[in-house]
Amino acid sequence: MAEVGTDINGAVELLTNSQVVAIPTETVYGLAGNALDEKAILEIYSVKNRPKFDPLIAHVDSISKVEDLVDDLPEKARHLADRFWPGPLTLLLKKKNHVPDLLTSGLDRIAVRIPNHPLTIDLLSHLDFPLAAPSANPFGYVSPTSAIHVQNQLGEKIPYILDGGECHVGLESTIVGFEDDQTVVYRLGGARIEEIENAIGEVKLNVNMSSNPAAPGMLKSHYSPGRKMIVGDILENLSKLNPETTGIISFNRSFDVPKRNMAILSESKDLDEAARNIFSALRKMDQPHLKVILAEYLPKEGLGKAINDRLRRAAV
Ligand code: TXA
Ligand code: MG
Repeated sequence: MAEVGTDINGAVELLTNSQVVAIPTETVYGLAGNALDEKAILEIYSVKNRPKFDPLIAHVDSISKVEDLVDDLPEKARHLADRFWPGPLTLLLKKKNHVPDLLTSGLDRIAVRIPNHPLTIDLLSHLDFPLAAPSANPFGYVSPTSAIHVQNQLGEKIPYILDGGECHVGLESTIVGFEDDQTVVYRLGGARIEEIENAIGEVKLNVNMSSNPAAPGMLKSHYSPGRKMIVGDILENLSKLNPETTGIISFNRSFDVPKRNMAILSESKDLDEAARNIFSALRKMDQPHLKVILAEYLPKEGLGKAINDRLRRAAV
């Protein structure tokens, strides 16, 4: 099992020696390694069992460190950076030559963000390299929002988990890039589309499901709780099923199934609270006695859009 704690110096030591460490962020836990070191990057891909065509996000603690990685920070990008960093936004920007192709899967853009978690900011400030960090889950599974989630799935394969408590956003970052003059959102996430549009004007959504790796991050089947899932009218779907073997993820109401089969995202219908709970709810549904999981779509506003996106992908 991995050691779990808050030893920044120990984490620095491991990372400096090409090893990987799980780190907390406000969105989800990441599996971190030196983003400029091919040995560390290969270890991340191997621990996650992730195909190398799916590139990694680089994490830093300042805009000047972002500038060391990218050719140019366009005006709109700078605006978004000022508005959202540190925070749940990832920008796709043209990479500098020294950034390893292995990090970006050969693409000419690098994904970067400044995460908003005090432990990880402290860690990054002690490093003279950025941290590559995909979500710390096996490829295709639900993202981890606590140190225990990481321990349960990757504990055998990594030396250390930096424990920063529960993630307070609970959904991965929103990924934004620029095509000609257009701002494009490639993944819905913790930064709300409404707020992005307030900052820089209209954006185009390119978040369609695809099994095409040229649209990374948008792999069709993702966030799987490990069994069949149906998103729709819960009551109607439940009427055709055995409640003993049916799991339910609802927005705010309880249904007539055993308690261990039931996850409520937010009794007060708070979409931010629902976002914090969605990945734990999906994990709770990974129980051997459950045959089918029923869920429902949330209101299409704020973080509701990103939650619905994760439900849709979990159901594929
Ligand atoms: O909130 C987050 O973004 C978390 C925390 C740990 O920071 N990280 C995360 O990483 O969700 P990951 O690898 O699970 O998802 C990142 C997505 C991937 O689907 C990848 O395809 C896309 O970002 N991506 C990374 N680099 C890219 C690039 N150069 N061009 C296009 N897409 C990229
Ligand atoms: Mg992921």
